[in-house]
Amino acid sequence: MKNAAEKELVLILDFGSQYAQLIARRVRENNVYSRIVPYNVSPNEIRSLKPRGIILSGGPASSYGEKAPVCHKDVLYMGIPVLGICYGMHIGCQLLGAEIKAAESREYGRTQLNITNSSSLLLKTLGNSQTVWMSHGDQINSLPDEFISLAQTNTCPCAVVKHRDKKFYGVQFHPEVSHTPCGSQLIRNFLYEACGCKGDWQISSYIKKSVEDIRNQVGNEENRVICGLSGGVDSAVVASLLYKAIGDRLSCIFVDTGLLRAGEADAIRETFTGHFKTDLHVIDARKRFLKKLAGVADPEKKRKIIGHEFIRVFEDEAKKIKGARFLAQGTLYPDVIESVAAHGGPTAPIKSHHNVGGLPEDLDLDLVEPLRELFKDEVRKMGEELGLPDELIWRHPFPGPGLAIRILGPVTEERIETLRAADVILLEEIRKAGLYKKIAQAFAVLLPLGTVGVMGDERTYESAIAIRAVETTDFMTADWVHLPYELLGRISSRIVNEVRGVNRVVYDVTSKPPGTIEWE
Ligand code: XMP
Repeated sequence: MKNAAEKELVLILDFGSQYAQLIARRVRENNVYSRIVPYNVSPNEIRSLKPRGIILSGGPASSYGEKAPVCHKDVLYMGIPVLGICYGMHIGCQLLGAEIKAAESREYGRTQLNITNSSSLLLKTLGNSQTVWMSHGDQINSLPDEFISLAQTNTCPCAVVKHRDKKFYGVQFHPEVSHTPCGSQLIRNFLYEACGCKGDWQISSYIKKSVEDIRNQVGNEENRVICGLSGGVDSAVVASLLYKAIGDRLSCIFVDTGLLRAGEADAIRETFTGHFKTDLHVIDARKRFLKKLAGVADPEKKRKIIGHEFIRVFEDEAKKIKGARFLAQGTLYPDVIESVAAHGGPTAPIKSHHNVGGLPEDLDLDLVEPLRELFKDEVRKMGEELGLPDELIWRHPFPGPGLAIRILGPVTEERIETLRAADVILLEEIRKAGLYKKIAQAFAVLLPLGTVGVMGDERTYESAIAIRAVETTDFMTADWVHLPYELLGRISSRIVNEVRGVNRVVYDVTSKPPGTIEWE
């Protein structure tokens, strides 16, 4: 990790917290680069990374339990400032001599924090009282003399603690969640006051550094890089970054499967040949995909056929590009974090992530992955700085298999057109209502059934469209969005009036779980 060693770095030791990524993002929001590592990272590895600070995450275990995950004791004796959060506070305090016990009264949710030592570096500018978010069954009831308690709640006498000699701080609450309004300031205090960071993590300087790294990796003037464009923000940012680094030695491949939303292929063309003058290969594979999908109704079969066909089309084109030595991928940080299992067991393997419909395997190309250190919101920021169009940067996620998994039953050209037309209306109305950026994903689904209707004096027997709109941060769980009735009414009447072959619109009010976001 050449990059990490050169900039201010804060390490987050992950004890199985569901919030480890949130902690990392809060640190980065405050312009300091952060990395998540397993709790049992060796002291030597920590030293080699030269972090300015260390944060011990929360976790589901009890620090006095038999199988409690414990970091190496040296973590607290290296002279590097340490902030322990919840379980991380318990572990740090325990290693420094305090006793952790089950709390008489557990605390979950919002709690009032009374600050009794507001001159402490950690609590600077936070005043005498703050609302914080708690989630703990264990706590510290009395501290050894080496510690002082800086803040308390009604039932927790040591809600914020500091070691008198060492730069060790502990907070019982969760400063990383949005329910703790002062959380970002507290983390900022830790970074700037306790660790002495200056804040050198900025997307603009990161772009500069990435461009240099890409040039170094790609090297030789003859070498070309292939980048698959999916229509989404990640691959677009990768391509524009590469373009900045190596200009016309970048070749982009865009496969038009015929399963994209209206106007997407044109938008890609416009961006990557109009704005960035890349060597863009648009492959019109619409007929090929339709033929393979003919008569297929099973969702998993559709996915397999599309994935397989995509790789073949991509490979055929890639082989024609002379001098290609590298393949660029939009792998993001959440896909490379080596985090611990929730029970504190062995580290999970690093996931591999295939961004554009799967990796062509026998191309023998080396990977270029310039987004490996970034979270999605940082990728969007990068896209803005690189001058990508707003619609592309803020586009809702769109599945690799495209509209095929939103057309329930067999996929035909006519059914694709029907769904596309309904989807255009839905997104237009959502944009007009100013809701597009507030919704994580919104789309239309074509149902595999006919419904009876009446139009004028005529009985109709046509298709039904379902509308889905969800809010979520991680796409693992999701809530359906309470769209205003007036908006739903407008969407429904426009679809029925303007899309031939549709006479009914229904709204999906299912959360995930038990539903999934997509219908197939
Ligand atoms: P589900 O339906 O599993 O979707 O709740 C979660 C997120 O993943 C997207 N999705 C896919 N993305 N290939 C993809 O690239 C797929 O086969 C696929 N299936 C679902 C979905 O749109 C949502 O954002």
